[in-house]
Amino acid sequence: MKKIIIIVIILLIIIIGGIVIYMTNNDNKLKKLGYNDKEIKEISRLSSNEIDIILNNDYTDKLIDIVTNGNYQDKNLKDYLAYANNHKKANINDVINIVNKGLTDYKYSPLLGDLITQKYFIQENLERYLKYGGKNAEKVISEVNSNLDYPYYENVKEADTSKDNLIIVNKYYNLTSDYEPSDLVTLTSTYSFGTNNKMRKEAADAFMEMADAAKLDNIIIRNASAYRSYTYQETLYNNYVQRDGKESADTYSARAGYSEHQTGLATDINEVSEAFENTDAFRWLNDNADKYGFILRYPKNKENLTGYKYEPWHYRYVGKDIAKTIKDENITYEEYYAYYIDHK
Ligand code: DAL
Ligand code: ZN
Repeated sequence: MKKIIIIVIILLIIIIGGIVIYMTNNDNKLKKLGYNDKEIKEISRLSSNEIDIILNNDYTDKLIDIVTNGNYQDKNLKDYLAYANNHKKANINDVINIVNKGLTDYKYSPLLGDLITQKYFIQENLERYLKYGGKNAEKVISEVNSNLDYPYYENVKEADTSKDNLIIVNKYYNLTSDYEPSDLVTLTSTYSFGTNNKMRKEAADAFMEMADAAKLDNIIIRNASAYRSYTYQETLYNNYVQRDGKESADTYSARAGYSEHQTGLATDINEVSEAFENTDAFRWLNDNADKYGFILRYPKNKENLTGYKYEPWHYRYVGKDIAKTIKDENITYEEYYAYYIDHK
């Protein structure tokens, strides 16, 4: 029994002694590398892997922050050190993110650091973000993803009709004069008034389902204007220009070829007026339109992103899942399209 106790004590002494020698040895090595007492204390609290990295590299006051960063990756250590060294103003978190994304060719700026951590950051757009500039990275990304670094109606691309229900048409993407969807169906008078009452089949079915559901809640929803041909839109727009002038007309009416009404996926509901916002039908749509695949296409306070004034009456069919995402994330279709459709 006595023997066992003696053996245990000896073993403990060996282990504790070993630890003490190891630590003082490390402390000495760190001192030699140039770390001060405060830093050594800080290092002693790190994991053995982190301590090893520090022991195996030259002194820099940034190394502790680098190895303890949550996004630290062993393979990038040399690049972190080089980037931090070449961009003294960069904070370590930014250095880590910039290197991890392979962006070491970019000169450091706080905007660059902020941009790359944003949810809707698109790497292909980075040059454009930086050129556009600004202090608020979230805003820069929203605006550039919506193409606002180009003036409206310049740099226009043909809308991608192969995207089907997910097509985008706006001041940067237009339709040719002969484009007409092949599956337009007519909404009956139960669901519509006026003559512009055609929608693409899937959108029309979703619209009727939505109107039926609204009716069960004693809400009447009817289409006031859905599909509009290029020539009809041309007449409409020209009339507005005559009445209000071009600059004003452009804030609320699409030019021919630039209207989502030509896709057969848009519908103006009940009343084309801002007063529609104060109706039960609007409130019902606000709560429920996404469940049927519709989004409010030109929301309040997003005028610069969509290119149009707030239109509480104008809804666009995109399908249920996407409508829900757009609503939950509180983004416009411009932002959705750039991030989730165009660059994927
Ligand atoms: N009022 C919408 C923007 C259109 O003309 O298509
Ligand atoms: Zn409309």
